[in-house]
Amino acid sequence: MDRPIQTVIRGTGSFVPARVVPNADFADTLDTSDEWIRSRTGIRERRYAEPGDTAATMGTAAARHALTAAGLTAADLDLIVCATVTPDLMCPSTACLIQASLGCRTVPAFDVVAACSGFVYALAVAEQFLRSGTAAHALVVGAEVLSRVCDFTDRNTCILFGDGAGAVVLSGSPDARRGVHQLRLFADGSRQELIQVPSLVTPNPPPGSGTLPNLRYLRMNGREVFRFAVAQLRALIEQAIDDCRSFDKELRCIVPHQVNVRIIDAALEGLDFPAEKVMVNLDKYGNTSAASVPIAFDEAVRTGMCKAGDTVLLVAFGGGLTWSSALLTL
Ligand code: ACO
Repeated sequence: MDRPIQTVIRGTGSFVPARVVPNADFADTLDTSDEWIRSRTGIRERRYAEPGDTAATMGTAAARHALTAAGLTAADLDLIVCATVTPDLMCPSTACLIQASLGCRTVPAFDVVAACSGFVYALAVAEQFLRSGTAAHALVVGAEVLSRVCDFTDRNTCILFGDGAGAVVLSGSPDARRGVHQLRLFADGSRQELIQVPSLVTPNPPPGSGTLPNLRYLRMNGREVFRFAVAQLRALIEQAIDDCRSFDKELRCIVPHQVNVRIIDAALEGLDFPAEKVMVNLDKYGNTSAASVPIAFDEAVRTGMCKAGDTVLLVAFGGGLTWSSALLTL
């Protein structure tokens, strides 16, 4: 093939574990209720990994679905990038474990850490390989087992998170009308203390520890993150609407990071974008961090909410702080 000028989404896939955890389960041990969680977040239930499920096993399952949808096999892949903050191991990367499970060639495989923005970051990295012609087909995965870093005595955080994985297969293409038009990635490490996920080597106290107590589990300053999330989500959506004008495209679907329906509603307030074109499935899965956007994207594709030729915005924010968007035409 001539050097590709575009990177297209060739297939999507996802996997969520079978174990459903409804809001009511938290009320047994915490001062909370189904009504509080539903009305303040929109979440009704989430999925938790079974003992044998890990970021790598769920990522592999999502990848297999994406490969099938793309009409490709593992042998066709030239690159694997996995976004996760809950890897099976700190080394090797979850991408290497997925590569082995799929039986790929010895192609490059590595992880990207950008919390809930991780999938869009990983997509942006893979896009550079494809656009330069270094790879023809890439697998991008977002996979998380957040239930294993939740503090189940903290009602402010544990009710928000769930487990799962999503994936896309990207291919280089000479078709300029389709593919990734615009990528925007941002980070502000000076606000590192607002969301933190520990590892085995986290110092005590943790770096930048301002408002958060010592770290054993995921910690978050929910109110601050809420304010930041609304502002950045809105700014990224407004930029994408402007970008669509300059690319002569109509924005047909928004797939936001799934964390709190009040954040999504507040970000869209007054923008005159139809609610039915905004993919929301956080009621079923909660916040699955790096897996959230690809799981929601896969559902949007499989249910026909976005179709071939539609221009779609993937948009996310999370720990770092990080925020990111990808504007693409299917
Ligand atoms: N059940 C009952 N009460 C609760 C619960 C709960 N599960 N959680 C908090 N409360 C209480 C608080 O203790 C507080 O009580 P107080 O007034 O007596 O102090 C009260 O409810 C209000 O607390 P707020 O924090 O103001 O509640 P808010 O409406 O902001 O909702 C929430 C909290 C859902 C966490 C919200 O702030 C949020 O969604 N924040 C954004 C989280 C986010 O976007 N995370 C993404 C990144 S995660 C990552 O990158 C890995």
